[in-house]
Amino acid sequence: MLYLLDTADLDAIRTCCEYYPVAGVTTNPTIISREKSDFREIITSIRSIIGPDKMLHVQTTEEEADAILREAEKIRETVGGKFFIKIPITREGLKAASLCKSHGIGVTMTAIFTQPQALLAARAGADFVAPYINRLDNIVSDGVRVVEEIVNIYRTYGIGTKVLAASFKNAEQVHKVSLTGADAVTINPDLFDTLIYHPLTYYAIDDFAKDWEAVYGDKKAGELLEKKA
Ligand code: G3P
Repeated sequence: MLYLLDTADLDAIRTCCEYYPVAGVTTNPTIISREKSDFREIITSIRSIIGPDKMLHVQTTEEEADAILREAEKIRETVGGKFFIKIPITREGLKAASLCKSHGIGVTMTAIFTQPQALLAARAGADFVAPYINRLDNIVSDGVRVVEEIVNIYRTYGIGTKVLAASFKNAEQVHKVSLTGADAVTINPDLFDTLIYHPLTYYAIDDFAKDWEAVYGDKKAGELLEKKA
């Protein structure tokens, strides 16, 4: 399962890419508008931070298929690299997905809440579908179960579309999605820290340091291996 960052916060992207195995960045109009700055500047800066090989998913702001295609072409030209246009699943969105694919543009079909939506998106040629976990959980539905069933449907029919689960609020949701066989998750920067945190890890690190110091003092292993002059 790959990890992507669901943010347009440049500092957070820089930091996460330095420390975590980030496979790409996803944005949507809400995420972009939070930054309150120039759209071109935001997306080109994200691309220059992550480089051309990591995925960049940017959402369309158009609603009609031909307009979505034209916008996708402009965004692709602006950001270059491994790019996917995010298109919400609507009738026009499905038409746009086929159109974009026929023009060689990667497609992520987004705002997916049901299994039939995911199957139709796949048949329209989407590279990824993005089901929204927490928003389903919020309405007493079961986001993880929806992902699990999408993964199973794709397996049943030998469909290559990948599942990029989105909308997470906690580590448990991410963990449960990892058990479904989903291909990727996109999470906010803080969730990376939460996912690696465990107090026993810090106790273990403290114990290692204390045991070492009791014998070798403040000398580090590398120092003890330095050749004497
Ligand atoms: O990528 C879609 C995702 O950003 C939605 O997340 O937290 O707004 O439900 P959220």
